[in-house]
Amino acid sequence: MALSTEVHESIIAPHGGVLINREAEGAEKELLIKEAGIMDSLVLNPWSLSDLELIAIGGFSPLKGFMGEADYKNVVENMRLQDGLIWSLPITLPVTETQSDALEIGSSIALYGEDDILYGILELEEKYTYNKTHEAEQVYGTTDTDHPGVKRVYEKGNVYLGGPIHLVNRPAHDEFEDFYLDPSETRKLFYNLGWKTVVGFQTRNPVHRAHEYIQKAALESVDGLLLNPLVGETKSDDIPAEVRMESYQTLLKYYYPENRTRLVIYPAAMRYAGPREAILHAVVRQNYGCTHFIVGRDHAGVGDYYGTYEAQELISQYEDELGIQIFKFEHAFYCTICENMGTAKTCPHDKSSHVHLSGTKVREKLRNGEQPPKEFSRPEVADILIKGLQQNLTRQE
Ligand code: ADX
Repeated sequence: MALSTEVHESIIAPHGGVLINREAEGAEKELLIKEAGIMDSLVLNPWSLSDLELIAIGGFSPLKGFMGEADYKNVVENMRLQDGLIWSLPITLPVTETQSDALEIGSSIALYGEDDILYGILELEEKYTYNKTHEAEQVYGTTDTDHPGVKRVYEKGNVYLGGPIHLVNRPAHDEFEDFYLDPSETRKLFYNLGWKTVVGFQTRNPVHRAHEYIQKAALESVDGLLLNPLVGETKSDDIPAEVRMESYQTLLKYYYPENRTRLVIYPAAMRYAGPREAILHAVVRQNYGCTHFIVGRDHAGVGDYYGTYEAQELISQYEDELGIQIFKFEHAFYCTICENMGTAKTCPHDKSSHVHLSGTKVREKLRNGEQPPKEFSRPEVADILIKGLQQNLTRQE
């Protein structure tokens, strides 16, 4: 979607300067769909499909397609694209050797989803092999296959396909349709709302009191808050996106000012790459038009693979090169003596007065139908999570 010059000039520039749009429309789209019938084809898994979508709608600007070898290697080694622009995670299309052998460089490949719908076309420019151990070490900082991101690296095909893409159909986000906006639309939205400064918040969890505290602390300094939960693939014990989405709506309804907050989904897969993923998360939110981004404790982390503030430390090294500004927050908690939320920066009391529960503990409580303390989670939110998780358990049985 084309944006007016007025909108463009009033908000932050996308990463690399141009908001990419690889979505085919009108006659071009018709032609691509027709030609796809005689092209070689591939079926993308949900992770690759979400990458295709994010490239096409400009979330991954300036990428125009799946990375070729030069960009891939530079990103893995130096966290930069070949032209020197900061880029922290590989965005690649893995296939098996057998699949790769059947595809010809220079040809166009029809990209289908697991639902047999044609989503896109790849102009195949490159096929290359890569070193999985090296990718795991560099990107995730570990080769331990208990790490969900590393596990995926070892499960992937051995060949990456590179080249520009076109999107001919957007993946449906049925249950979240009301909360789907692409980056050109969020940019327009912020413009129409008169928000000159907007803080983006990434989450793959329900919003608990610590999240609320850091969001609102940030919102005190900017015009608006974009609650931008990741709804793509997450690990199996994370709370399902549809349950979380209901909980976000309830939380916003009861505890957030309507004119200062918007809920929009981020349709990406979660990598759990900690520090490197924090940089990707910030860059993407810049593309969605945010001027600020929150990085708190153990951002995009999993288990004990990353230090509590490692993501903040890494992103700090590149902050001057990012257009978006980073709000960093220390570990937040409720203090029973202060009787409010705080961090070690603002609360003088020791740990015994802090209400702290691990994510695993909270999920366990919710699955057992128990409310976590109200200092940890808003009761209205906990009710929805309990109900949602119990329905989910019943469905799985
Ligand atoms: S993430 O994987 O999407 O980063 P999560 O949804 O838990 O996980 O976190 C969303 C954001 O809130 C991240 O920036 C994270 O660092 C921050 N965060 C989560 N819990 C806390 C906390 N108790 N104190 C400070 N920041 C937090």
